[in-house]
Amino acid sequence: MIKFKSDFLWGGAIAANQAEGAWQADGKGMALSDTIRGGIVAGKPDESVLPGKYYPSHEAIDFYHRYHEDLELMAGMGFNCFRTSIAWSRIFPTGEEETPNESGLAYYEEMFQTMQKLGMQPVVTISHYETPLNLVKKYNGWANKKLIVFFERYCQAIFTRFGDLVPYWMTFNEMNNVHTMPYASAAMQVSGSEQEQLEMKYQAAHNMFVANAQANQLAKQLMPNAQMGIMLSLSGAVIYPATPNPKDVFETMTLQRRSLFFADVQLNGEYPRYFKRICDDHQLHLDITDEELALIKQYPSDYLGFSYYRSSVYAAGSSTEGNTSGILGQENPYLEKSDWGWPIDPLGLRYLCNILEDRYHKPMFIVENGLGDNDTIEADGAIHDAARIKYLKDHLIEIGEALEDGCQIIGYTWWGPIDIVSAGTGEMKKRYGFVYVDKDNDGNGTLARSKKDSYDVYREIITSNGESLFR
Ligand code: BG6
Repeated sequence: MIKFKSDFLWGGAIAANQAEGAWQADGKGMALSDTIRGGIVAGKPDESVLPGKYYPSHEAIDFYHRYHEDLELMAGMGFNCFRTSIAWSRIFPTGEEETPNESGLAYYEEMFQTMQKLGMQPVVTISHYETPLNLVKKYNGWANKKLIVFFERYCQAIFTRFGDLVPYWMTFNEMNNVHTMPYASAAMQVSGSEQEQLEMKYQAAHNMFVANAQANQLAKQLMPNAQMGIMLSLSGAVIYPATPNPKDVFETMTLQRRSLFFADVQLNGEYPRYFKRICDDHQLHLDITDEELALIKQYPSDYLGFSYYRSSVYAAGSSTEGNTSGILGQENPYLEKSDWGWPIDPLGLRYLCNILEDRYHKPMFIVENGLGDNDTIEADGAIHDAARIKYLKDHLIEIGEALEDGCQIIGYTWWGPIDIVSAGTGEMKKRYGFVYVDKDNDGNGTLARSKKDSYDVYREIITSNGESLFR
């Protein structure tokens, strides 16, 4: 029998901009996510909010006003943790204020207290694709080192206020997606030649590494018991070579490294040796100071949080576009696909955990995994989401195997335990939840919540601490 440790963290994860709505409530400023209509991959951001257009995140599922009910539903599954993000522009509306917005702080304080009362440890992402719009427009986001200062001020405010309430933090959601989704990941528009674009991406990455190290430093002073993590999209690290041709194998390793690079720096505390070759080959000239390198060295992160949805297949020389699920590569004839064309690969998750264990020897936290699917509502209101149940069980069984392999996995938070707006496409139809929300792609619906079949299944898994998976 595979054993999950008694302190294993079981829960679910959402992001403020995909769930809260209330996009102008209580002094909130505009965030980059507020200007996106069709999702960060499918749609282009608008210059500002255009009158008469529908923005799915503006109301989302109204988690802002309904979180008590929603968190109770989560606690009903036995969750002992819950991951969400703080919307930066609720705390600093333009990102540049000297003092934080008290209403924003009070709002999250009550939310985290509610989680604690319900027996759920808050797991908080500090920046999840929702940078204040002003910082995007004025500075082009993380392309500019000024953001390090604004981010530090933001961290100072939230660590001071929530340090006693939040034990697990992650600085930037999926920072490695700067390669494929720089607007979401680094809040910047890239332009110029291929070389210039790459330079911008690595500079933004470096600026975020410094901000991450500063956040870790600040955490040590303000909340010494907190665990500080990074968060990466590691679907992009489970890439299989298209053939045994050594070229495919070598280039696949290089592409996998492109994601792991972000953990190499922030967990090991220094730039890996292969980075010099990247800079030389692409003639990258980056603004990196000795003081910044010393800070990164002194304040590495405590754990590796990551998302995993699927694997991909790569052929040398092919293009490396991606979306919220990772790299878009070749077909894998051995795997089935979700309704949105994402290959389903539970064993890929065990493979990934083993790679990470061998490479970092640090705790890992699987903070996103899930199946976005079409749900059918039966005449009696029931939702028999068998595919979601299978995806959940199959991935958890492989996590159990990875634990037996010796991987230090501290927890698992299913992505979107209640239906939320898709980040990639802006749809409501792409549902991840164990709890259904009555709302469609055009914004129609009562917002009523109801349980799907998967709700009881996840509850049974959690309350048996994983044992029901193997019955
Ligand atoms: C991750 C993001 O990339 O994938 C989430 O951190 C996102 O914000 C999730 O929602 C699933 O992607 P999508 O496009 O199905 O919402």
